Amino acid sequence: MNVLVTGGAGYIGSHTCLELLESGYGVIVIDNLCNSNPKSLDRVRSMTGKDIKFYEGDVRDEALLHKIFAENEISCVIHFAGLKAVGESVAMPWEYYDNNLNSTLVLTKVMKEVGMKNIIFSSSATVYTADNEMPLRETSRTGNCTNPYGWTKYMTEQILSGMSNADPEWGIVLLRYFNPVGAHPSGLIGEDPRGIPNNLMPYITQVAIGRRDHLSVYGNDYDTPDGTGVRDYIHVVDLAKGHVAAVKYATSHLGCEVFNLGTGTGYSVLDMVHAFSEANNLELPYEIVDRRPGDIGTCYADPAKSAEVLGWKAEKTLVDMCRDSWNWQSKNPNGFAD
Ligand code: NAD
Ligand code: UFG
Repeated sequence: MNVLVTGGAGYIGSHTCLELLESGYGVIVIDNLCNSNPKSLDRVRSMTGKDIKFYEGDVRDEALLHKIFAENEISCVIHFAGLKAVGESVAMPWEYYDNNLNSTLVLTKVMKEVGMKNIIFSSSATVYTADNEMPLRETSRTGNCTNPYGWTKYMTEQILSGMSNADPEWGIVLLRYFNPVGAHPSGLIGEDPRGIPNNLMPYITQVAIGRRDHLSVYGNDYDTPDGTGVRDYIHVVDLAKGHVAAVKYATSHLGCEVFNLGTGTGYSVLDMVHAFSEANNLELPYEIVDRRPGDIGTCYADPAKSAEVLGWKAEKTLVDMCRDSWNWQSKNPNGFAD
């Protein structure tokens, strides 16, 4: 069975291509490389000894999508392609709405035309409103997003669930990721952010390797055990395996289902700093600064539905996350640019 992976050269996409190939699926990737390097796919090919058919292009290119569906027998699409930087989305809202919404609209238009209606979408815990009780369940309140990126995830969920209501032939899975971190334990693929990282773990690894002199911890006055923000960090290999489970589900069930992909455990920023230092025997200079606008104190998942319905559970530990992030960064100080 072949899976079309949009955005497959990116961080989560490349790890998912590897897990799909290792589970026996054929993999076809479309990526315009706006935030990735095709070397990630070369590495996945050499790690698995299997080929990936790669189309360099934009998911909004309807003619290219028709060509891909005509040239390949595809049973499911995993739709990762999109822009993902929260701060950038505030500065460039049009680009975010255009890319993230039009990619989904063009992709699903072509899927309707060719009659292949199984899709898995990369949503985010950002769709939950800030006033929910923890842990977050799939039934918790959504909306009231604080930035255009979050709205694109929320609106895409609305578009896909509306399509499923109107046409029961769709098999749709919406996956709400919590905080993906880590890298494949080989250190051959990992996260390769452009410019100054926004997210905690890539910032930590860049401090550890000496590219940045210290970590700024955004606030220590939240209502959390040590005052710093608490998140549900999930190893990217566990997340990738969640997609394999979702492909099995989407290709055997009709309708639209939403699942949290998280561990169910929250760690604070200082927990992460200490765990990273201990796991890798490194000093990590940090400084407490003001809160980052838009951040919430605590966010973690109830992953029970994914365990019950998808049969998937995160298995890797915080030590695995810290060790594998550092292994990738130290073996590839400049990411895929080396
Ligand atoms: P990434 O930037 O590494 O991967 C996205 C890929 O999509 C990149 O390779 C990029 O070149 C490609 N792309 C973007 N727009 C495209 C387009 N129009 N046509 C073709 N290719 C295009 O990001 P990631 O961390 O792997 O995230 C994958 C998905 O998961 C995204 O949709 C993101 O919003 C979502 N997500 C990520 C996180 C996270 O923290 N990493 C959390 C929640 C949700
Ligand atoms: N943090 C710091 N210093 C930094 C970076 C982050 O203290 O340099 C703190 C933040 O304040 C927060 C925690 O580390 O408390 C995690 O921050 P990230 O930026 O790594 O992650 P967020 O939870 O803010 O957001 C991430 C993605 C979003 C996604 C969300 C939920 O960036 O796209 O997870 O999936 F929507």
